[in-house]
Amino acid sequence: MTLLTWNHACTVGVRAMDDQHGILMDTMNELRLALVHGSGREPVSELLDRLIEFTRMHFSSEEQLMEQSSFPSLPEHRAEHLRLLGLLREAAHRLQHVVNVPMRPLLCQLRDGYLDHIEGLDQKYGPWLNQRGVY
Ligand SMILES: [Fe+2]
Ligand SMILES: [Fe+2]
Repeated sequence: MTLLTWNHACTVGVRAMDDQHGILMDTMNELRLALVHGSGREPVSELLDRLIEFTRMHFSSEEQLMEQSSFPSLPEHRAEHLRLLGLLREAAHRLQHVVNVPMRPLLCQLRDGYLDHIEGLDQKYGPWLNQRGVY
């Protein structure tokens, strides 16, 4: 599983959101390292909980900004946030309840989900917010 690297495609142009995306990626990378180093279920589970908590906070920050600026695609964006949170909860559930769960495919799925989201839907609110003075 490759490291998540910061690149231009990931920049949405709103400082606070870009900072939060950086923290999300750092946490994903920590998870990846924990797996590579063969850390046990406990530390991986703790990292995953931290990722879920931070993701929830990040999604609600984004939704608040979109709501305040009457962003037209908010319903579609919110639905995608819910889908991603579902994937995260499923990963956490499997980690806690399934013996010898293969975490790597789950993490790859999460990584791809985040990247697609940040490089796709998240790119769309940037210009809308910038035009309304939010940077
Ligand atoms: Fe985001
Ligand atoms: Fe988003």
